[in-house]
Amino acid sequence: METNLQKKRENKKSLRVKVISLGNAEVGKSCIIKRYCEKRFVAKYLATIGIDYGVTKVQVRDREMKVNIFDMAGHPFFYEVRNEFYKDSQGVILVYDVGVKESFDALDCWLSEMKQEMGSQANMESIIFVVCANKVDLTKRRVVDESEGRLWAESRGFHYFETSAQSGEGINEMFQAFFSSITDMCENGGRRPVTEVNVGFTREQADTIRRIRGSKDSWDMLGVKPGATREEVNKAYRKLAVLLHPDKCVAPGSEDAFKAVVNARTSLLKNIK
Ligand code: GTP
Ligand code: MG
Repeated sequence: METNLQKKRENKKSLRVKVISLGNAEVGKSCIIKRYCEKRFVAKYLATIGIDYGVTKVQVRDREMKVNIFDMAGHPFFYEVRNEFYKDSQGVILVYDVGVKESFDALDCWLSEMKQEMGSQANMESIIFVVCANKVDLTKRRVVDESEGRLWAESRGFHYFETSAQSGEGINEMFQAFFSSITDMCENGGRRPVTEVNVGFTREQADTIRRIRGSKDSWDMLGVKPGATREEVNKAYRKLAVLLHPDKCVAPGSEDAFKAVVNARTSLLKNIK
């Protein structure tokens, strides 16, 4: 009787979860997992063939968690192998290389592939996502800055970590936050708690900052047609200033975006009579 009770208690405390890693080839997915599980780094690139599978046990608060890790191959060639493994995941590690812009831009495609493969089962609210901006040790070749990556992640309610599988920077912190959030979600009936990754900024602010970063000239930045009048420029400026003013907006990159908007308005007004 006592043993049954004991067993019941233990069962309540132990969790079994599935996590997957996603991201372009060579961004460092396997190395991140290896750094965490085996505490070592392999400098030679050994492409994952299809999928690698491993199990690890972790302790989160009073719970023991058995984590099944499916480390996906990033190469498009392995799409047919990968697509079987998206289903029933509680956690996703999305990785890009801070020195390769295409690997950052590809994050949206990875989310789309996942949604498509999960089909009607797709309930992104029941999955914890963590974004790893990896290879931060290679500072000289960095092309995607922290605010850009953080904005992409946090505007979607995802965790964001700067990591290096080579030095170990950010790896333990990332996995701890990841497993802790998965535990919270399981304890919350399988739904991501609403307070998860409290972003403190709106999707509109995030999208506007992203648009400003990608704008081709001052007209485009203010969202007015070339040849617009002073009034039109000022009206567009005021709208953006209210949205992005550093006193009001805490989104990563908002200060730079605000400054860029101020400069764009000044340079346009100089040339409009
Ligand atoms: P696929 O399995 O092909 O999808 O690639 P992957 O994302 O698993 O990449 P992998 O972990 O195999 O690493 C690719 C290359 O990047 C290897 O040569 C690693 O040594 C190197 N690498 C991975 N992480 C880091 C890092 O944080 N810093 C540096 N400097 N190199 C890294
Ligand atoms: Mg790999």
